[in-house]
Amino acid sequence: MKQGAIEAARHAYAPYSRFGVGAAVLSADGRIHTGANVENASFGLSICAERNAIFRAVADGARRIDAVVVYTPTRGATPPCGACRQVLSEFGADALIVCCSDDSAADRRYHLAELLPEAFGPAHL
Ligand code: THU
Repeated sequence: MKQGAIEAARHAYAPYSRFGVGAAVLSADGRIHTGANVENASFGLSICAERNAIFRAVADGARRIDAVVVYTPTRGATPPCGACRQVLSEFGADALIVCCSDDSAADRRYHLAELLPEAFGPAHL
C-alpha cells in the first residue's frame, strides 16, 4: 500500500503548493483505492489526496475502510488534515492511518480515534 501511495503522488495536480500527496485506501473487501491531491486556481476548491482516495473507494462500491496510507514529500510524516479525518470517520471509525514520507524510519501509525476523538458521525443523526 505504501508503494501505491507513493505512485499515486505522481499524479498529484499541485501547481500552487508544489506539495504532491498520494494516498492508498484499503477497503474491507480487500481492494486498494488510490488518490492524489488536486488543486484549483480557486484555492479553496482544492482537495486532499486522502479524500480523493476515500471518495474513489466509495464510488467504487466500498462502504468500510480499514486503513489509509498517506505519502507526503517530506522528511517526516505528515498527519492528515481535519477535513480528511472527518470524512474518513464516516467509513472507518477506527481505521489505521499510516503516514509515510521520504524517510521510512519516520513512518507514523495512528488509529483514527486518536486523531479525531469524540467524532461526530452517522450515529448522532
Ligand atoms: N494535502 C493533502 O493532500 N493531504 C494532506 O494530508 C495534507 C495536505 C494537500 C492539500 C494541498 O493540495 C497541499 O497538500 C498543500 O496543503
